[in-house]
Amino acid sequence: MSVRWDPIQYGAFADERGRPFADLVSRIEADGPGVVLDLGCGDGPLTLALTARWPRARVVGVDASAEMLGRARHLDGADRVTWIEADLTEWDISAPVGPPDVVVSNALLQWIPRHLELLAEWAAALAPGGWLAIQVPGNFEAPSHALMREVAREHPRRDELAVALRRPASAEPRSYLHILERAGLIADVWETTYLHVLDRDGAHENPVLEWVRGTGLRPVLAVLTDPAERESFLVPYAERLRAAYPRTSAGVVLPFRRIFAVARRPALA
Ligand SMILES: C[S@@+](CC[C@H](N)C(=O)[O-])C[C@H]1O[C@@H](n2cnc3c(N)ncnc32)[C@H](O)[C@@H]1O
Repeated sequence: MSVRWDPIQYGAFADERGRPFADLVSRIEADGPGVVLDLGCGDGPLTLALTARWPRARVVGVDASAEMLGRARHLDGADRVTWIEADLTEWDISAPVGPPDVVVSNALLQWIPRHLELLAEWAAALAPGGWLAIQVPGNFEAPSHALMREVAREHPRRDELAVALRRPASAEPRSYLHILERAGLIADVWETTYLHVLDRDGAHENPVLEWVRGTGLRPVLAVLTDPAERESFLVPYAERLRAAYPRTSAGVVLPFRRIFAVARRPALA
């Protein structure tokens, strides 16, 4: 089942979602790259930031979602990026103009089955002196996801929900280090837990629910299209989220673990 992305819902927490991208890209030391790829580029603003960082580079954004790319093209009034609609599991990353100098992939790989193999292919395709930078969430055991699975198990459509929620996750940091080093790259891998303080002004009843609606909850919503069935999932899920992420005097705190890897291929001697 293919689950659609909604750029408006996804963009609701653009600042929080942009922070790991900025932290990731800040560790890339490429000087004057020719070709920069953003794989799983999404709705555009972060890819456009790459054109500001490397104004002379050819920046290419690749994504499988027509909806996300529609928003990206709309944002890119000056046509600074080449936007390509493609499924990255079937796309040769050397296709646009040969081996890339910089490959960035933020919050994509956890959606892809066997993503470690794909990462090894990307690493192998990198130009000499090139950089590869990825970030994946490491929060699949967090209450936001554990409670989603718990409520799904109690729902009348539990069998379909189990299938919908059976999805690839991220690996542990050590696996990324191993794969990148084995591909001949020099890798720097780390993890961070951000404490996102959501909804400081109290405008939303359940900001964590709004957050997951844009990403991890999409497979559930795609199964539960009937309003009553959807409600019978969302009511208990929202209640448990509120208990797991209580409102504090600052707002609602969402701890979010993320895993980063930045690697470079040595230049030719
Ligand atoms: C969580 S969003 C991340 C978007 C952007 N990189 C960011 O950091 O905001 C994941 C993106 O991966 C894309 N995606 C998922 N599976 C894909 C695939 N097999 N091929 C290409 N894009 C894919 C989705 O369409 C979505 O835009």
